[in-house]
Amino acid sequence: MITMPEQTRTVLTPDGPTPPRPPAAAELLAIEDGHVAHNYHPLDVVITHGAGALVVDTEGEEYLDFLAAYSATNFGHRHPALIGAARDQLDRLTLTSRAFHHDQLAPFASALGELVGKEMVLPMNTGAEAVESGIKVARKWGYEVKGVPDGRAKIIVAAGNFHGRTTTIISFSDDPDARGGFGPYTPGFITVPYGDLDAMREAMTDDVVAVLIEPIQGEAGVRIPPAGYLAGVRELTERRGVLLMADEIQSGLGRTGRTLACEHEGLVADVYLLGKALGGGIVPVSAVVADRDVLGVLKPGQHGSTFGGNPLACAVGLAVVGLLRTGEFQDRAALLGIRMRDRLDRLVGRGVIGVRSRGLWAGVDIDPRLGTGRDVCEALARRHVLAKDTHGSTIRLAPPIVITEEQLDHGLDQLELVLADLAAR
Ligand SMILES: Cc1ncc(COP(=O)(O)O)c(C=O)c1O
Repeated sequence: MITMPEQTRTVLTPDGPTPPRPPAAAELLAIEDGHVAHNYHPLDVVITHGAGALVVDTEGEEYLDFLAAYSATNFGHRHPALIGAARDQLDRLTLTSRAFHHDQLAPFASALGELVGKEMVLPMNTGAEAVESGIKVARKWGYEVKGVPDGRAKIIVAAGNFHGRTTTIISFSDDPDARGGFGPYTPGFITVPYGDLDAMREAMTDDVVAVLIEPIQGEAGVRIPPAGYLAGVRELTERRGVLLMADEIQSGLGRTGRTLACEHEGLVADVYLLGKALGGGIVPVSAVVADRDVLGVLKPGQHGSTFGGNPLACAVGLAVVGLLRTGEFQDRAALLGIRMRDRLDRLVGRGVIGVRSRGLWAGVDIDPRLGTGRDVCEALARRHVLAKDTHGSTIRLAPPIVITEEQLDHGLDQLELVLADLAAR
């Protein structure tokens, strides 16, 4: 029996005086349309409150969150321990820049390092920044430690990757939407098929300094590589003196039923890139985590960020590590994941043509005869469940780990009903 953490029972109305009622959704959507760049295509739900796995819209309607902000709200909306840590810190100190020391950085960095078994932390803000920083560290390590001739460093990446949206990162994306029209592109990357160890072996020239890989490709539709692949990559990188850099920004910190998705394959990477859930759904917090022989290549003035490692981010990040240290969230994701997988498997042949999952994270391929992933997500939203499509016919399910069994079952019931409705059309 899985026990429900207290915070999922939190009432959705915040403490204190009732805030003024926001303008109606239609008005807000019209303003957004005119004044916000159209770089997203959100569902037509305007959220005003959240607690645990529930959110509430402008009309006071409740929805189940089955996306968890791409794992950024792994611990649910407004987890009391995280909100408490943020509140305490807001009352003390929020920003110093790294020009001065503050009292939150040391405890955060040592706790995070200990959680994932590494000596040092480079604190940043967004996931893309952590990836960029990891690339810079790997190149510098390649020149200074491995001895690659200056300007020749190469990094191997996998086809279908998603590592963020900066110019360098989209340079090695093969998604035409992410990449098209944004050139010229940054050189220095070699793309190999995901899951193909022979291709990686062939690409492994003397100039390769790192392999940058998602242990599970989230944006690609929760693609899990064949068993033994990641262990093979580890063996190959070790033999060739190449850093293995695992992007655990979406897969890490509890989502898959372990602290790191790499653990499912017994894999220890040289560098972990973390983000999303590290900010507890409150502030952007990301980090490059590695041992001293790797992160030690950075010297004063060579890399930085005004907001990276700020007191508020560190206080929240430390509270996140505190939650993960208990192991409770990892276990809960694993248990609820079995429940979710069992339900999803029963939909195969009934509107679903494929399911991939690890822990509380699933990619569900919808039978294209029923409609697109977007069609399914829109129909789910009408049934008050919020999920996200990807790559045409796949939907991604990643509810907050604090979701109750009843809420999980209810959301999956709605998916079943949506598929039945679409099949009956
Ligand atoms: C695996 C992975 N890496 C990096 C990123 C980029 O993170 P951010 O959106 O915080 O820049 C994402 C975002 O979805 C991701 O899934």
